[in-house]
Amino acid sequence: MGAMKIILFGATGMVGQGALRECLLDPEVEKVLAVGRRASGQRHDKLREIVHKDFLDFSAIEDELAGYDACLFALGVSSAGMSEADYHRVTYDVTMAVASALVRRNPALTLVYVSGAHTDGTERGRVMWARVKGKTENALLRMPFKAAYMFRPGYIPPLHGIVSSTRLLRVLYTVVGPLYPVWKALFPDQVTTTEQLGRAMIRVAKHGAAKRVLENRDINALGGGGSSADAAPH
Ligand SMILES: NC(=O)c1ccc[n+]([C@@H]2O[C@H](COP(=O)([O-])OP(=O)(O)OC[C@H]3O[C@@H](n4cnc5c(N)ncnc54)[C@H](OP(=O)(O)O)[C@@H]3O)[C@@H](O)[C@H]2O)c1
Repeated sequence: MGAMKIILFGATGMVGQGALRECLLDPEVEKVLAVGRRASGQRHDKLREIVHKDFLDFSAIEDELAGYDACLFALGVSSAGMSEADYHRVTYDVTMAVASALVRRNPALTLVYVSGAHTDGTERGRVMWARVKGKTENALLRMPFKAAYMFRPGYIPPLHGIVSSTRLLRVLYTVVGPLYPVWKALFPDQVTTTEQLGRAMIRVAKHGAAKRVLENRDINALGGGGSSADAAPH
């Protein structure tokens, strides 16, 4: 598919910055609309941004969310230190508010949602975040999108100067980053990069995929090796 119009949630985050970078580099992506509670700070001819404060109510900007081919959804939080109610609000309620607005305004939209490895599709396991992500995935899969794909990446070291906003992850990437080639060799199915993930998201947005739920190894198969995906993150 050529000349795609993409709407992106989470563009200020680590995964979202990676997806945005790949969108801006991809000649087949004609337009990107980033919707966030703050601006990404990026400038590009293809990029338009909407800063919106209430992520549980999009009625004020819903008209502007119409006419897109795909949504890349990389908005999400770490559950560390959060109550189930708070995590549910950001993970499930916000996602549902976005998804319902998008479904109303885009009859043929492909949704790519980033959840995470070990998401619990039964919604009944003991791990709180995994249950809530599983519930969110299941609800999205039931909605009348053209198609919806659930991405479950494992460990994601950032490339190309992208920085995680979570302090713990920043420290982890700094410490573990130099060991990335070792990690990748030992656990190829549990490690991806912001570049591979971004590329895989765009590829599935364009062409679909054989599965609705894509695990880390599927993401890497779709995201390709790329020029720098095998290099240590920097
Ligand atoms: N990092 C990993 O290694 C990893 C691994 C597997 C899965 N994931 C999943 O991938 C997704 C993205 O992770 P990430 O590492 O990119 O996270 P991140 O760097 O913390 O970025 C999160 C993004 O979500 C936005 N956001 C968070 N809470 C929001 C709210 N209440 N209202 C509006 N926007 C909100 C943030 O906006 P602000 O910039 O305004 O805060 C930011 O754009 C998450 O669902 C995460 O669980 C991450």
